[in-house]
Amino acid sequence: MKKVGKETPIFLRACQREPTEYTPVWLMRQAGRFLKEYRALRRQYPFLTLCKTPELATQVTLLPIKKLGVDAAIIFADILLPLEPMGIDLEFTKGGGPVIHNPIHSRDDVEKLRPIEAEEDLPFVMEAIRSVCLELKGGTPVIGFSGAPFTLASYVIEGKGTRDFVRAKSLMYQDPRCWHRLMEKLSAVVISYLDTQIQAGAGAVQLFDSWAGCLSPHDYEEFVLPHSQRVLRALSTKAPVIHFALDTAGILELVKAAGGDIIGIDWRMDLDEAWKRLGYEVGIQGNLDPAALFGPPEQIEKRVAAILHAAGGRPGHIFNLGHGVLPQTPEENVIAMVEAVHRLSKG
Ligand code: CP3
Repeated sequence: MKKVGKETPIFLRACQREPTEYTPVWLMRQAGRFLKEYRALRRQYPFLTLCKTPELATQVTLLPIKKLGVDAAIIFADILLPLEPMGIDLEFTKGGGPVIHNPIHSRDDVEKLRPIEAEEDLPFVMEAIRSVCLELKGGTPVIGFSGAPFTLASYVIEGKGTRDFVRAKSLMYQDPRCWHRLMEKLSAVVISYLDTQIQAGAGAVQLFDSWAGCLSPHDYEEFVLPHSQRVLRALSTKAPVIHFALDTAGILELVKAAGGDIIGIDWRMDLDEAWKRLGYEVGIQGNLDPAALFGPPEQIEKRVAAILHAAGGRPGHIFNLGHGVLPQTPEENVIAMVEAVHRLSKG
């Protein structure tokens, strides 16, 4: 991993738990629908066209940088993109979210999934990272990302979003060998995809295991942890990795055991308690409730202050929401939040 110095951007210094003049902040889904410029672009282009056209993806990635004053850019893409070159037929339906037309049901389906060459199969993501890095000239770092094997497996089995994960868990329980084979194939894809993003210029990467909180601790340990661990071990030496999952109060120690330099938590836990449970040898990211941004500015400021207080000024806190910014969020409230994080965390 690169050494940190005085000229290293504060987000990257915080990733390595170095002290910073103020707490860095970015928002999951900061390059998305709550921005009016994004909505205007979406009236002209389908979502996948935005993702697959490096000039447009660059433009979208940069929107929140100037407008919000955040300390990192996250590349505009989606966790489901690497599934296409594996042979998955993916569609983003109008307003309905992603749908997979050929979900995985059997060992045969798993065997047919192809490995990927990230640079050849997803060149538009790498080009977008290179072009965003050129634009930002090293001042603001770029975060690359991928879905974690479990969250990707849930999508390829269920074929769409789900509340109960019945199909994914059925495969896990009925045919554990098939489950582990699928997870191995996805892990190899995630490693190649993130490694290539780091080579293209991503200063840090985030592994989104958004749905891992649906599992019992035992099932997480048996069916998910070894695979996430393989991914996180392969990457942690190359760039800081943020390991994010929702609803992890019951599995927090296991999420940490899987790895990551920074653990991302949601708002259902107090940050001070979560950090104590994790241990201060890892960083922490979070954890404002995205719905807090619908309150008046003085309420937002109070909640920001409470989170900064919980972090106790320890190096290694990256301020973020506990999940993605909601599409209806007023832009001015996000700007007020970022400003409050910077102002209140200055020593
Ligand atoms: O954070 C960013 O600003 C970068 C871009 C980004 C997108 N998706 C763009 C997007 C990131 C980091 C993601 C991650 C993602 N995608 C996750 C993990 C994070 C999470 O929210 O838990 C998941 C589960 C997905 C899959 C996905 N993509 C869903 C379920 C949907 C539809 C529902 C929704 O939130 O819109 C998408 C579409 C999507 N991905 C949009 C954007 C901006 C909206 C597309 C549109 O413009 O209509």
